[in-house]
Amino acid sequence: MGNRLEGKIALVTACTRGIGRAIADMFVDEGAKVYYACRNMETGAAAVEAARARGGQAELVYFEAYEPETHRSMINECLAKEGRLDVLVNNFGTSNPQKDLDIMRCTYEEFERTVNTDLSTVFNACQEALNKAMLPQQSGSIINIGSVAAICPDKTQLGYGVAKQGINHLTKQMARQVAYANVRVNVLNPGIIATDAVARHLTPETQVYYTANCMIKRVGEPNEVAYMALYLASDESKYVTAQVLNVSGGWM
Ligand SMILES: NC(=O)c1ccc[n+]([C@@H]2O[C@H](COP(=O)([O-])OP(=O)(O)OC[C@H]3O[C@@H](n4cnc5c(N)ncnc54)[C@H](OP(=O)(O)O)[C@@H]3O)[C@@H](O)[C@H]2O)c1
Repeated sequence: MGNRLEGKIALVTACTRGIGRAIADMFVDEGAKVYYACRNMETGAAAVEAARARGGQAELVYFEAYEPETHRSMINECLAKEGRLDVLVNNFGTSNPQKDLDIMRCTYEEFERTVNTDLSTVFNACQEALNKAMLPQQSGSIINIGSVAAICPDKTQLGYGVAKQGINHLTKQMARQVAYANVRVNVLNPGIIATDAVARHLTPETQVYYTANCMIKRVGEPNEVAYMALYLASDESKYVTAQVLNVSGGWM
């Protein structure tokens, strides 16, 4: 337990497991009150209970990426209880590697679905948090979780790469537009991180192929991403905005 986020109110999307869970738990353990924004209220409640059992402050709100009204209602639910929001982490991101293929084979419907889902969650949550909380309170930090897939074109997953690159530019534009109000917006790009998503979609052979492109030749851990999120959430990074920061073992 530390106190680097003492007194802050934070909301993290898609945090029942993986990178989102590591970020939400680390924020709690550093003194923030964290809203766990989850679609599965059962596993979400278990995560919140575990955080409280460690002596932390945590709440559960409903967030389903395919229900756009929840991108905003989760923010408003938090504001109704706390009256402020200091840190927003847009961790949710999706792609179906079986359908989100290369330009020759990806259907337009799949491309549109992936880009729309990955970008609309960030757009809607940021707009609501900025207009209702961070601009009026004149402070805040938004952390959008991207991917190295945005900076290094992949052989497949066209929609995912385009959406994640879109998040980079959306972030930089928002950062420029809200800096006057002491609000910061940054992207955190994970490399290959040991989560269910990677275990589900990448065979051990594929993981070796991907990590061959890393200077540090191994898969990363969710906590190693969470430490960067902690820095971006804390006042230690108050002169850092409009940045795309990679936690990828030196991915090339
Ligand atoms: N892992 C990597 O190597 C890697 C690399 C680059 C970027 N990223 C990015 O990092 C972020 C987190 O990825 P991850 O690997 O930690 O994922 P993960 O381990 O697969 O966890 C996915 C999380 O998203 C939630 N979720 C899935 N579909 C949802 C929906 N429709 N609405 C709301 N929540 C939903 C899941 O909730 P349930 O428990 O309800 O399923 C779970 O909490 C994503 O933005 C991803 O693009 C990951």
